[in-house]
Amino acid sequence: MLKEDHKKVEGLFKRFEKAGDRAYAEKRDLVDRIIESLSEHASIEEQLFYPVTRMTVPAVEDIALESLEEHHIVKWVLSELDGMDPAHERFDAKVTVLIENVRHHVEEEEQEYFPKVRDELGRNALGDLGDAMEKARAVAPTHPHPRSPDTPPGNLIAGTGAGIVDRVADTVSGVAQGGLATVQDLVDRLRGSTSSRPAPKGSPTAKKAAAGVRKRSADAADRATSATRRAKRTGEKATTEARKTAASAVRAAKSTGSAAKAGAKATATTAKRSTRSTATTAKRSAKRTATAAKQSAKSTATTAKRSSNGSRPTAKRAAKSTGSTAKRTARRTTSTAKRAARSTATTAKRTAKRTASAGSARRS
Ligand SMILES: [Fe+2]
Ligand SMILES: [Fe+2]
Repeated sequence: MLKEDHKKVEGLFKRFEKAGDRAYAEKRDLVDRIIESLSEHASIEEQLFYPVTRMTVPAVEDIALESLEEHHIVKWVLSELDGMDPAHERFDAKVTVLIENVRHHVEEEEQEYFPKVRDELGRNALGDLGDAMEKARAVAPTHPHPRSPDTPPGNLIAGTGAGIVDRVADTVSGVAQGGLATVQDLVDRLRGSTSSRPAPKGSPTAKKAAAGVRKRSADAADRATSATRRAKRTGEKATTEARKTAASAVRAAKSTGSAAKAGAKATATTAKRSTRSTATTAKRSAKRTATAAKQSAKSTATTAKRSSNGSRPTAKRAAKSTGSTAKRTARRTTSTAKRAARSTATTAKRTAKRTASAGSARRS
């Protein structure tokens, strides 16, 4: 298990050494992973491997103490690299020194320390020790704590506590980053575009938490997007229906307008005809009345004349006066009939005009 950790870290070292001078994001990511791996590994060795082997394996005391000092130096360098700007002029140099120190330390462990332990402890004891170290990994610190105790019992308490704090902090950081990425994702979805955004930073635990938050948020966003699409489809259908209704209403309005226009025209025509007819009737009636009055006056005058022939002058005057009165009455009657006919014609024309105007207003 410890050798596997060494191999994993060596792989990260090699990738860092191959990265370009200006590959800042890649190098920052690699160093974050190196910090987490070495912090966990050092904590497990300090809490279990070193103290257990110092008590059970002879001749490892010196190398165990030397290993603790090497760990101490490595943790200081790791703590300086934790959060350091990868573009800083000391960044690459610090990582190079770290790599040299760790490689030297790993070589000593694998070439001198582990063989002694393997020779002294049997397979079962090594298996039990391996199981215990695997369980310790679950609460091991993910960041370096060079000031904390590195031997029991102090490191058992401080290491476990620091491990829990580190993991909570990583998770919180990851959740926060995942939340930010989620906001950006939603903005992109709304804009229908994609934008580049920085990958989650920090330890693998933080990145995992960020990825988890983002995945869950993405699923929620997908559901929201589907709902939006459904709503949009429904809206489009409603819009189409509304357009149809509007078109139908326009057609109906046009139809109503045409009908009103035709109606108004018909009404105006009817009114004009009626006016003409009324005027004609009034004129005829006036004419007849005037003619009848003239005839009546003439008849009265003739009768009076006849009856006055041979009579006294008084009777003649009376007959003449009756004739004049009959003639005046006939003239007045004729004038009254003509005025009535003109008034009726004027009223009929106005009514026809109003009806035509009302028809135009309804059309507009
Ligand atoms: Fe070590
Ligand atoms: Fe080691």
